Amino acid sequence: MPISYAHCMNNQPSTKNQTSEFYDLSERLLNSGDAYWGNLGYWQAGDDYSTACEGLAHQLANAVNLNQDSRILDVGFGCGDQLLLWLKDYNIQFLCGINYSVSQTVLAKQRLKQFELRQFELSQSQANTDGTNLGSSDNIFQGDVADLKNGLAVVCSEANNDINTILALDCAYHFPSRKNFFDDSFKVLKSSAKTNQDNNGIKASTACIGLTDIVLADAPLSWGRRMLLNIMLSASRIPKDNIVTLAEYQGQLQQAGFDCIASEDISEFVFEPFGNWLKSSKDAVHKLRGHRSAGLKYRVTAAFLAWAYRNEVLRYIVISARISSPVSE
Ligand SMILES: C[S@@+](CC[C@H](N)C(=O)[O-])C[C@H]1O[C@@H](n2cnc3c(N)ncnc32)[C@H](O)[C@@H]1O
Repeated sequence: MPISYAHCMNNQPSTKNQTSEFYDLSERLLNSGDAYWGNLGYWQAGDDYSTACEGLAHQLANAVNLNQDSRILDVGFGCGDQLLLWLKDYNIQFLCGINYSVSQTVLAKQRLKQFELRQFELSQSQANTDGTNLGSSDNIFQGDVADLKNGLAVVCSEANNDINTILALDCAYHFPSRKNFFDDSFKVLKSSAKTNQDNNGIKASTACIGLTDIVLADAPLSWGRRMLLNIMLSASRIPKDNIVTLAEYQGQLQQAGFDCIASEDISEFVFEPFGNWLKSSKDAVHKLRGHRSAGLKYRVTAAFLAWAYRNEVLRYIVISARISSPVSE
């Protein structure tokens, strides 16, 4: 869950000196099956939390047209559910990732390893030697997106540096500076954009960035609304400078060097349905009983999001941008 008004509880042991983390494993409480999703979800009738979160991931995948040629850097991948989804449903070519949370990254690595082991056993039993993507778990790192270039040096040391797709699913508003993230992403992607050009002319570049994200609505904010928004942003570890209008957001992408920007406002499928589900789901109510602080956190989050939507304070978008023009050194 992206927005939370206080430190999350740790319902599983953390690895780094047992300190509690802001991004941890507590969203497990909201999920069904063996899922650990932690986003706001793209809600359709009858969805439970895990299905809605997966739905949001599919929205992002569609926006960047994920396919068997995609070579992905995923930033802020939570506990790894989305990494498994890219591998299973989109048959992508290469995957690496950086995530700030220590506990989530440890778990994501474990889950990816288990998946790879199952894939390996399957390929052995079917005498199928295609080992595509076995090894993604080695490319998953704990780190801050602010160190994207250093992180990538590690991630891509094994010559896999021609990443053509950067993804940020429901997390970029938390980054220290989303604007810097765009600049760094452009630098990462431009080498891939170059390799996609032919000798005579320019072949359409496949290098792209995709995000699901929060933007400021266009309507002017009253002093009171601005105050409440700022309080929630600060409690949720969202830098104020990241909350900009769609026009400003697009401007930052363009300034970084991206073009072919496409965005869709999906607010109505995101902001209010989470709270409706939280209130009506017997399963959620049951699971949160006995976890008072987590229950309160989710209820406050849901109430804030519904308020921000109804009062035209925030919007939720899925957005993609490409590098379509020739890129010089
Ligand atoms: C709201 S959660 C979304 C998790 C996941 N994408 C999902 O959809 O379930 C935000 C994620 O962003 C990550 N994150 C926040 N700040 C980050 C940073 N500076 N660098 C890398 N990851 C960050 C957190 O660790 C967390 O996994």
